[in-house]
Amino acid sequence: MADLANPNGVPRHVAVIMDGNGRWAAARGLPRSAGHKQGVEALRRAVRAAAELGVEYLTIYSFSSENWSRPVAEVTFLLDLLRRFIRKDVADLHQAGVRISVIGERDGLDPGIVAQLEEAEIMTCDNTGLRLVVAFNYGSRQEITRAAQTVARKVAEGKIAVSDITPAVLANHLDTGGIPDPDLLIRTGGEQRLSNYLLWQCAYTEFVFVPEYWPDFSAEVLRRAIAEYQSRERRFGGIKAQSA
Ligand code: IPE
Ligand code: IPE
Ligand code: MG
Repeated sequence: MADLANPNGVPRHVAVIMDGNGRWAAARGLPRSAGHKQGVEALRRAVRAAAELGVEYLTIYSFSSENWSRPVAEVTFLLDLLRRFIRKDVADLHQAGVRISVIGERDGLDPGIVAQLEEAEIMTCDNTGLRLVVAFNYGSRQEITRAAQTVARKVAEGKIAVSDITPAVLANHLDTGGIPDPDLLIRTGGEQRLSNYLLWQCAYTEFVFVPEYWPDFSAEVLRRAIAEYQSRERRFGGIKAQSA
């Protein structure tokens, strides 16, 4: 059970790799698309549960820079699903006080999708409830590369000196600029890898890998992952307080 009085507290920022939709479907003799569809239901449950537990930031991996390598039909289905999710759910999320932000590369995307994403961000920008960060067309190496290009451009234009480039400056140029680093990363589906997700931001994040496929994600799975997080000792390179 998540312990609200635990010294680690409720993680302020939970990042999720929503993995296992295809395997969930295959296990039922269904097409992969059926898994993705159920994945949207799981996402609704995750947002509700995170908000109820007092999580402030929930960052979800919805489509990676590398997911374009899947068959065209699957990519098209996933993009349609995102479009439909934004169209159907944004009003409800807005009502619930959720603020939506989108990270990832927007250049080269379908302008219709970009407009929809931007509309969702603008509509919910003053909300003070859960911040839902949607990683779409996201790859961490690409994000770090774009940040480096922006900083390099500023140096070339004489706006900042090379010696002024610090980790904090670089962090502020990432898509996640202004968002605290994740405290807890949950990956469903049993794989134990980052798949190009939040490489910079996860320097001191606690990782919890759960066997459940994403469509089976529930408030209970989230509570268990938080309980596991709360059993960890975060040292950030230091030593245990009492052994000092
Ligand atoms: C996660 O499930 C959804 C996306 C990557 C968009 P997968 O589609 O990766 O499902 P598995 O991992 O193949 O089971
Ligand atoms: C990561 O899952 C991307 C998303 C969940 C959107 P993948 O299924 O694409 O990752 P790999 O290919 O197993 O590493
Ligand atoms: Mg996968």
